[in-house]
Amino acid sequence: MPYLKPERPEKVSAPSLRASKERGERLVCLTAYDYPTARIVDEAGIDIILVGDSLGNVVLGYGNTVPVTLEEILVHVKAVRRGVQRALLVADMPYGSFHTGADDTVRAALRLVKEGEAEAVKLEGGQKRVKLVRRLVNEEISVMGHIGLTPQSINQLGAYRVQGKTADAARQLLDDAYALEAAGAFSIVLELVPREIAQMITESIKIPTIGIGAGVHCDIQVLVFHDLVGMAFGKLPRFVREYANLRETITDAVTRWAEDVRSGNYPANEESYGLPAEAAEELKIDLSKNAKLKPS
Ligand code: KIV
Repeated sequence: MPYLKPERPEKVSAPSLRASKERGERLVCLTAYDYPTARIVDEAGIDIILVGDSLGNVVLGYGNTVPVTLEEILVHVKAVRRGVQRALLVADMPYGSFHTGADDTVRAALRLVKEGEAEAVKLEGGQKRVKLVRRLVNEEISVMGHIGLTPQSINQLGAYRVQGKTADAARQLLDDAYALEAAGAFSIVLELVPREIAQMITESIKIPTIGIGAGVHCDIQVLVFHDLVGMAFGKLPRFVREYANLRETITDAVTRWAEDVRSGNYPANEESYGLPAEAAEELKIDLSKNAKLKPS
């Protein structure tokens, strides 16, 4: 497959996203959690790569994002970093890493930026996180906000539902977006929000919105990589469009390999290494027959 060159090959940065919004460009963001995926996604020209705490659902098998730790995010950010050249690399602040005070939050974010070499961090929550966002920005850490459905709140929410469906809730979302922009966030994820509200927010702020289940009007779209390529299990939300079914492709490959091994079809001679004639001579092995060392 050819390397798909992005239309704008220059390195993406947090400030450049605002200019992209002004130019009306539609950018794309995907999650990645490991080196090979990061390379594929970056080389395909995806603009932002997020090491999301969705890691907990799709890679670590936790069932939700609450158990994900800073150490786990760090391991995956480092792997992804090694595979990314052009995209903006953003690391998620996992649940618990920004709940015990501003200094702890800065310390956690600094680890993601210094050790993980992420270029920005993402933090769930609206107005209640404004002080933290301001503090991080003050410490030269770029912050992506995240409002609407915030999966880290699952124990309070009880289920993953569309947010902002009443006039009051929609106004809250708008206020959250204004507050995050004023605090210095460079972009805001809108998750599971009615498209009309996402459009209002997108048109009301200068920083880009990044939609997931939030309709077509967001400046940037994001999906979880495993959902997009058919590597997830269970029922997919309606906003996911599967562009491949890697579960089937991988199952087929693994099954055929196992069958070939069991039937003696793998490995063939071309898939193993033969003894050079000189050594065969010395060992008195007849290369045309089954190898058998002559007793010395
Ligand atoms: O953790 C994640 O992958 C996310 C995206 C879905 C925005 O937060």
